This record gives sequence, C-alpha cells and structure tokens, in this order.
Amino acid sequence: MFPSIALSLDTHNGEDVSVLAVAYDCVALFLCEEEGLPLWAQRALPAQLGLDFKATFITQVMGYTAAGLRLLLVGLGKKESLTEDRLRQAAGIAGRLLSDYEKPGIFIAKNLTIALGDSVTVKVVTEGALLGSYVFDRYKSDKKTAAWKGLALLVPGATSEVVLPQIRHGEVLAHATWISRTLANMPANELTPIAFVAYARKILAELPVGVEVIDREKALSMGMGSFLSVGQGSSQPAYIVMLRYSPQAKETALGLVGKGVTFDSGGISIKPGKGMKDMKADMTGAASVLATVWGAASLGVQKNILGILALTENMPSGNALRPGDVITAMNGKTIEIVNTDAEGRLILADALTLACREEASPIIDMATLTGACGVALGDLACGVLGNNQPLIDALVRIGESSGERVWQLPLYEGYLDAMKSDIADIANANETGKGGTCTAAKFLEQFIDDRPWAHVDIASMMMSEKTSGYAVKGMSGVGARLLLGYVLSM
Ligand code: BES
Ligand code: MN
Ligand code: ZN
Repeated sequence: MFPSIALSLDTHNGEDVSVLAVAYDCVALFLCEEEGLPLWAQRALPAQLGLDFKATFITQVMGYTAAGLRLLLVGLGKKESLTEDRLRQAAGIAGRLLSDYEKPGIFIAKNLTIALGDSVTVKVVTEGALLGSYVFDRYKSDKKTAAWKGLALLVPGATSEVVLPQIRHGEVLAHATWISRTLANMPANELTPIAFVAYARKILAELPVGVEVIDREKALSMGMGSFLSVGQGSSQPAYIVMLRYSPQAKETALGLVGKGVTFDSGGISIKPGKGMKDMKADMTGAASVLATVWGAASLGVQKNILGILALTENMPSGNALRPGDVITAMNGKTIEIVNTDAEGRLILADALTLACREEASPIIDMATLTGACGVALGDLACGVLGNNQPLIDALVRIGESSGERVWQLPLYEGYLDAMKSDIADIANANETGKGGTCTAAKFLEQFIDDRPWAHVDIASMMMSEKTSGYAVKGMSGVGARLLLGYVLSM
C-alpha cells in the first residue's frame, strides 16, 4: 500500500564519525541559529562550513566528512521560535533530500528533545520526514524511485520502549496524510464514488473496521433526498459509506463525517473553467475521515469511531438538480436550491442526520465547503465553527501543534436570515456573497440535534501551491493529521 520505508532506531551518539560512516551514507542534523555544530560534527566537517551555515529556518547545506559520510545540515531558525511544527517542517526538508540516499539517518540531538519534550520530538521528526518525501507519480511513465529503503532515527541514549512507539505514531500520522493526499490527487475519472468505496475496503481489509455501504436505493428508502439530489445529474452512482471502529463494546462513538464530492463542476450553476480541475479534490474531507479511521485502527486506539463518507459527483446533465428545485432532506426539512454549486452542504445535511440517528457524539464534519474560507484565512488555516466551545478549543489546540491550523469563525443566529426561502424551510445558499463560510456552517447546524458538533471547512488548505517544508506541491491531504491528532488526544 505504501512504499515500504523501514524505520529503525539507532542510539549511537555520533561521536565517532567513522562508525557512523559504516552504517549510513547521509545523516541529517538540525541546527538552531544560535547553536554551532555539535563538537563531533565540527571535527568531521571542513571548518568553514560550520561558520557559513546560518541555520535560518528551513535552509540546508550538505557537508562531506573525511570518513565519506555526508552530513545534511537543516536550519531550525531562532531557538526561541522553535515549535513542534517548525521542527516538522525542517524534518520535511530532510526527508525529501534523504530519500535520494540508500542508507540515510536523521540525528536527533538531546537539546532538541529538551526544547520540545521527549514525547513529541521523535514522532514529529518521523512524521515530517515521511510527509516531505511524498511523491505522486501514479500517472508518470518516468517514475522517480526513491533510493531509500529505510530510515534510521538516531537518538543517542534512547530506550526503545519509549521511542519505538513514537516512531510508529509519526509513521501512521504521515501515512494517513499520504492516503488523503493520494485520493485527493487522483483524477475524478479514476476516483469515482464507487472507486473510492473500493479503495476504502482495500485499505481497511485487514483492520477491525466494519464497512457498510448505502447505495442509491437504500438511501432513497431512508429518505436521503438532499444527499441524492447532488448526484442525480451524474452517470456515476453515489454512495454513503459507514465505517465502524468499535474497540469499546458499550461506549458512544465519535462521529466523523466527510464531504466526498469526487468532482464538483458546480452542476447547472456551473463553475468557470479556470481552476475547475482542482475540484477533483473536493473529496478531501471524506479522504481524511477514511485516513483517520484507518490510522486509529492501525494504532489500536481504544476509542469508538463512526466514520461517514458522503460520496457523489456534482455534474450538469438533463437529470441534474436545477436552481429553483425543492428537495426534502432525511430530517424532513425542505430545501430550495438557489445554487447547485452549494452542493457540499446538501450531502452533509443527510450525512449529519445519519450521524445523529446513530447517536454519535461528538460529531465533527470536515469539508472543502466554501471558497470564502480561503478568502477569510488564506491557505494558512482552516475554519472551524460549531456549537460546543470545548470541542472547538481542542481542535484549535491540535491544529496549532499539528500544523493543520484551524481558526474559529462565528456562528451567529443572524446568519440564518441569509438563507430564508419564500417557498421552502430553508434555501441552500445566500446570494449576498457575504460571510459564506459562516452561512454554510449555519445551514449545516440545522441538521444537528442537541449534541456537540464542530464543522471544519478545509477548502482554504485543500491544495499546496508549492513544495516547502513537509508540504508537497499538489493536494495537501489536509485534515487527516488534525482528526487523528484529536482521536489520539481524547
Ligand atoms: N467545493 C466548493 C468550495 C471550494 C472552493 C473548495 C475552492 C475548494 C476550493 C463548494 O462546493 C462551492 O462551490 N461552494 C460555493 C458556495 C456558494 C455557491 C454559496 C463557493 O464557495 O463559491
Ligand atoms: Mn460546489
Ligand atoms: Zn464542492
């Protein structure tokens, strides 16, 4: 499923470079601006290198030792600015460069673990290194095969009982993001809703996760008029997938609901051509929910999770939903369609009703819901809105440490006014062009009964414009590490 990069732990302290040179061809080393090279590296490298390298944030230089070992120095910037995510970014650079070597290692000096804490440092470096080395070359005839087969984490004096689980955590967090990135990068002609279902079954096959698929007929009998309306213009059938991971017999499950529009053309309210191709990634929410369930089950987390993937395509055709149509959602509410491009909320409406009927609590939905989210926040944060402050606070906190930042936006009552309909209970969009992320979340709230709920709008961070740190140009797979981080923190 993944390129197998065997991760290992080495407790060598680096003092004797000739010993290191036997086991490794390239070892990465992180440096803060105020710190010189560790003594052993100073001795092993040409003198001027240590002086020339300023260690500004995510700069790097390669040095060659007399013993034949390459030392890759990666800058962390100022010591006082060092955070978990800045280390992850630096590790991303290291991982990307080290994948070109056959026997690479990453040296984690004691001062790093002192600065950031023993329990996170190795996890974060592993995670960042794997994330940065991600390559999507599925459709390239000329594939760049990574040279590395393994990666060693060099942690002087570490005990394996403590550090191996951290390596494993970092690995699963990165692999979860790989899953989400790969699904989001796959074109919509290959990743149709049914192909998404097949992929989910495949990656969950060996894990204790129940996969229940609701097809059109079943959805119709359950009254999912809102969900089904979006896919009616497409020749690709729509599906709702319920993933059940229940290690604890009697506990309530955390509900994770993901928007899985495998292609969003806008439908009859068709989008302009420019950038439309990126709407192949309008299923990133569902991908990150799937990746989270995969990750939780892979790690054997003792928390029940109900994952709901709402998979469909939004296409124009003679059968497509029209502006002006009125549909009935599973909870009985009627919706007047104002804009068929506001389709995400239509599929989430019924998926959220389903999560409530299943008694999941709390519920977190994740969706590439509004372009307005990127207008508000740029690509530095996702939006989070909801009815439960402790839940939102937890997501903001995990967002900060994971680097998948979320910023709270308001959910005032007044946002509902914008979606009044003359003929139905509610309209699916407001045409004022104001507060798009907030009004969309307000719409979703109408489909939640009294239970803690948070909505994460990931549209702003769906894509990485360029390769930098652990980000790789293309679809970001955002959300998987945020949700998995939340599950691990519960
Ligand atoms: N999938 C889009 C939102 C989106 C835009 C995601 C850009 C990622 C990048 C969503 O379905 C959409 O089209 N939203 C509309 C809502 C509007 C019609 C009320 C939008 O944002 O314009
Ligand atoms: Mn849309
Ligand atoms: Zn969409």
